[in-house]
Amino acid sequence: MRAPRRIALARLPTPLQPLDRLSEELGGPRIWVKRDDLSESGAGGNKVRKLEFVIAEAIHRGADTLLTCGGLQSNHCRATALLGAKLGLAVELVLRGHSGASPEGNHFLDLLAGASVHIYSARRYQAELPALLDTHAQALRRRGARPFTIPTGASDGLGVWGYLEASEELAADFRAVGIRPRHLVVATGSGGTQAGLTAGLHLHVPSCEVHGIAVCDDAAWFQRKVRADLADWQSRFGSSLDLDALRIDTLDAYIGPCYGHADADTLATIRRVARTEGLLLDPVYTGKAFHGLLQELAAGRMCDADDIVFVHTGGIFGMFPQRLEILGVAN
Ligand SMILES: Cc1ncc(COP(=O)(O)O)c(C=O)c1O
Repeated sequence: MRAPRRIALARLPTPLQPLDRLSEELGGPRIWVKRDDLSESGAGGNKVRKLEFVIAEAIHRGADTLLTCGGLQSNHCRATALLGAKLGLAVELVLRGHSGASPEGNHFLDLLAGASVHIYSARRYQAELPALLDTHAQALRRRGARPFTIPTGASDGLGVWGYLEASEELAADFRAVGIRPRHLVVATGSGGTQAGLTAGLHLHVPSCEVHGIAVCDDAAWFQRKVRADLADWQSRFGSSLDLDALRIDTLDAYIGPCYGHADADTLATIRRVARTEGLLLDPVYTGKAFHGLLQELAAGRMCDADDIVFVHTGGIFGMFPQRLEILGVAN
């Protein structure tokens, strides 16, 4: 298999830590957290692992501008903005939503990092995203810039490499602490992290199954998206892995009211984990995924091994725009 270019941007390996107080309180398997929220400071979370490959390719192709897209509170856009600044690349962001009077959370950091931000209504963004990206890319070229377009969440056959490589790191972590987990749980949004982990653990820890907890869209959408990203990876890099043999498991029961907002039980889990373990979960991704994990354990599922692993994919800045809801004091 041909390996792609990579630049070191993440602080690796990230720690694998047990949540002893919470596990004891729950009385089930010992819960371990792979702390990918510690993969960097401002640019931390799962995206930096993917961007190590994607930005290396952009630079190799002579790009001077990174163009990407996401919600107003996109962690991926914030990570791209900060890493672009670090590497001396311009960053243009096409964002969905509307900005309030004061920029919050990730959007604030996009601006702080000097990214050019273009905000569109949810309706227009959903209907016209490819055309919007194309228009911005053309405008950049007319100005003499050399843009490289990164897809939503850096989830494609190149971005998949981030969590393929992370799977090897996880295999080493499991050996180092002497555990044989049968289940690994992760938030899934644009599918690339789940795709990398599903293929990567199949190669490096075949006894461990990956469960994506959807934060938007249904399980059927993730089946298609994860398979599409892996097919793209295979056609670009020539892996002989039998993709049809992979089990892609996505649980879509924990999305709550909609993408970006969590239900009261999930918010209660976020408070519980902060108060029991000092661990921060956000209401858009990791809070839903961790709540899903606790619900699955309470239902007696995923309890067939002594240890279970949760991949903390970051997203901490997404807490701040919803701080009152998280504290349970919003109207
Ligand atoms: C904090 C966080 N966790 C999980 C995810 C999901 O990752 P992916 O988009 O690769 O499915 C994202 C991005 O969408 C994220 O920002």
